[in-house]
Amino acid sequence: MALIALTGASGRIATALRPRLRAAGHRLVLCDAPGVAVPDVDPATERAVESDLRDVDAQAEAFAGADLVVHLGAFSDERPWPEILAVNIDGTRAVCEAARLAGVGRLLLASSVHAAGYVPVDAPLVRDGMPLPAPDTYYGVSKAALEALGGLYAGRFAMTVVSARIMTFDDRPGGPRSLQSWLSGDDMARLVLATLTTRATGHHVVWGVSRNTRRVVDLAPGLAIGFDPQDDAEAHASDAERRGPSRPPGLLGGGFADAAYVLGEPHGGTRTGS
Ligand SMILES: NC(=O)c1ccc[n+]([C@@H]2O[C@H](COP(=O)([O-])OP(=O)(O)OC[C@H]3O[C@@H](n4cnc5c(N)ncnc54)[C@H](O)[C@@H]3O)[C@@H](O)[C@H]2O)c1
Repeated sequence: MALIALTGASGRIATALRPRLRAAGHRLVLCDAPGVAVPDVDPATERAVESDLRDVDAQAEAFAGADLVVHLGAFSDERPWPEILAVNIDGTRAVCEAARLAGVGRLLLASSVHAAGYVPVDAPLVRDGMPLPAPDTYYGVSKAALEALGGLYAGRFAMTVVSARIMTFDDRPGGPRSLQSWLSGDDMARLVLATLTTRATGHHVVWGVSRNTRRVVDLAPGLAIGFDPQDDAEAHASDAERRGPSRPPGLLGGGFADAAYVLGEPHGGTRTGS
């Protein structure tokens, strides 16, 4: 039984992870921002802590005794630069520093496909290997910075750090693009458990994606840390295809990489052009 600390504990991914990690026998520390209540905390296996991502001391206290910190807290969409800088970049630095101060040796950092959104889907390093960062938004820049911080903390402090470029997390594939990019709840839990138990050392950038028949990215970097996803979006293909046109994007970032997508505005915000 391990103790796993989660930031962003009331968010979508953490909410899906909690029952799965508890079922695997682990205890959880659930961190989210002051004033954000984490719902349905199980007192036998879970403890909730209110701490801002930028508060090193509060998080170091929360992480004490943890075997792994799973850093999910963030603005999970495009935002104005000062907000991205404060929460996603300064916040990630603070989480890494708090983990170090608390003596936690393992970190799983939630990166995003948008760290590499301008990479063409048919680039050779997408199919085989891992492309360099090519962010498509300020949000994507923050995820590239998160990966850089992961490399720094792994290199300097001998921590095992996995930065997962999560593609599209959902209960089910939400549309045709997700048939390539879906990450299921069970596979996200497999990624956490792989990070908890891997013998690999150093920093690893992996794709957060299920074993989708139509995936365009390489599973090998994940397999190298023991992340062996099992779910396939193809099982939901007829539902997903019914929800929209099936033209796959030319760039990994899809709509975020579109010239009509306004930098600094949340997805669904004002767009220029048609
Ligand atoms: N959901 C996806 O498809 C997806 C894809 C790629 C990457 N990611 C990344 O995975 C992580 C989790 O995603 P999610 O969908 O669960 O996000 P979410 O938006 O549902 O949850 C984010 C959580 O972070 C918390 N948070 C925000 N600012 C904070 C602060 N200052 N201090 C403390 N907590 C703060 C929020 O309260 C929230 O609970 C995020 O880092 C996101 O960028 C998600």
